Amino acid sequence: MAVSKSLDVNGKRVSIRIDDPEMPLLYALRDNLGLKGPRFGCGLAQCGACTVHVDGKAVRSCVTPLSSIKTEQKVVTLEGLGTPQKPHPVQKAFIDEQAVQCGYCINGMIMESAAFLATNKKPTESQIKQALANNLCRCGTHARIVRAVKRASAT
Ligand code: FES
Ligand code: FES
Repeated sequence: MAVSKSLDVNGKRVSIRIDDPEMPLLYALRDNLGLKGPRFGCGLAQCGACTVHVDGKAVRSCVTPLSSIKTEQKVVTLEGLGTPQKPHPVQKAFIDEQAVQCGYCINGMIMESAAFLATNKKPTESQIKQALANNLCRCGTHARIVRAVKRASAT
């Protein structure tokens, strides 16, 4: 039987109807709410493509059951990080460095980096690499991605 679930997503209170409370947060964001920033990559917490923030922490939404998200917790997706007019510093740095090839991994790279920079404002290159070590990019865009995160940390 379908039930209602109330969520705080990108600063808005939303209510969705779900059949399975254990459904991954990723499906609710993409399918119920139409937020296509978070991507389905591996579905196994191994690639990072689905990363969102929950109360400011980077979370792999493909393995986060909706039941674990409390009503008052703040979920932020790539769409809620900044706007086209006022992008988040990490989003702006990725554009400035043109740190994208196919783009599939970029949601995860940006969301992971933004959460990381919130805890370490002036990281070294090796700390950036370590923070992104579990975010996979099949295009090999790593050098530009690291440059973009460095650029964002300098703003
Ligand atoms: S899709 Fe979630 S980590 Fe790969
Ligand atoms: S830019 Fe293609 S997977 Fe990273």
